[in-house]
Amino acid sequence: MSLLQSARQLVRRDAAVASADYQRLLDLTKGVILYVEGVTVSFDGFKALNNLSLYIPDGQLRCIIGANGAGKTTLMDVITGKTRPDTGQVYFGQVINLLELSEPEIAEIGIGRKFQKPSVFEPLSVFQNLELAMKADKSVWASLRTKLTGEQFDRIHQVLYTIGLTEQSEQLAGALSHGQKQWLEIGMLLISDPKLLLVDEPVAGMTAQETERTAELLKSLAGERSVVVVEHDMEFVRSLDAPVTVLHQGSVLAEGSMDEVQANQAVIEVYLGGAE
Ligand SMILES: Nc1ncnc2c1ncn2[C@@H]1O[C@H](COP(=O)(O)OP(=O)(O)OP(=O)(O)O)[C@@H](O)[C@H]1O
Ligand SMILES: [Mg+2]
Repeated sequence: MSLLQSARQLVRRDAAVASADYQRLLDLTKGVILYVEGVTVSFDGFKALNNLSLYIPDGQLRCIIGANGAGKTTLMDVITGKTRPDTGQVYFGQVINLLELSEPEIAEIGIGRKFQKPSVFEPLSVFQNLELAMKADKSVWASLRTKLTGEQFDRIHQVLYTIGLTEQSEQLAGALSHGQKQWLEIGMLLISDPKLLLVDEPVAGMTAQETERTAELLKSLAGERSVVVVEHDMEFVRSLDAPVTVLHQGSVLAEGSMDEVQANQAVIEVYLGGAE
């Protein structure tokens, strides 16, 4: 049996049992956590992604920018299994072919995705939201009735600290500010310790101070894992001080530091000098 076949078998097993195995399957020996190669996605003949190739090194924080409709969200949809490409390859490390896995399987193998709209459980406390994320295999009420192990309790407190909500632990999620809700949702993803975190427009609607703290949070999360951030707020992108990929009409237009892409003639023409 090939490594890939055994990987697929493991991934098809019970989620709770398999999560430790997934970590072993993820082969990062080449230092690359995500391969997107020659990916094309068509909607009624329109190419939302057009022969797109992109590589994310293990532990890197990467920003993806591009005008409305450039294909940024579609790219995240492809990585997370929500949209299937017409052509191309998408690998998580060396052996895990993401195109062979379902959306829930991809979440379980360690790819966390944060959507723009926070979807925390407002009538529950911050702590309970994290508790639910930890025991996501059960119903809400069954989860809250099952006692946490010491280890799980410690893990929740560790995440509370990371997202800066230790003091709000017992507060209802519904009473949090917009920014705090976004951090809680990131925390709910961190509970299962994803190796790749995808974040789509995290600072939309945030105050300047919340935006600044979000930059600090995302920077602190990289290293141990890779983080891909899509954002329109250029000041925020600059503050992340990370490599930038510019998408245009479903392809990579430029890649480099923020200074490099802002000085790139093609980028100036189609994006930064244009509508934005
Ligand atoms: N399910 C779909 N059916 C048809 N067209 C779609 C679908 N999803 C996306 N598109 C189109 O594909 C293109 C890329 O959309 P996408 O949402 O990926 O852009 P984006 O870069 O995330 O833009 P924004 O910055 O506005 O969020 C757009 O023209 C969009 O209208
Ligand atoms: Mg989008």
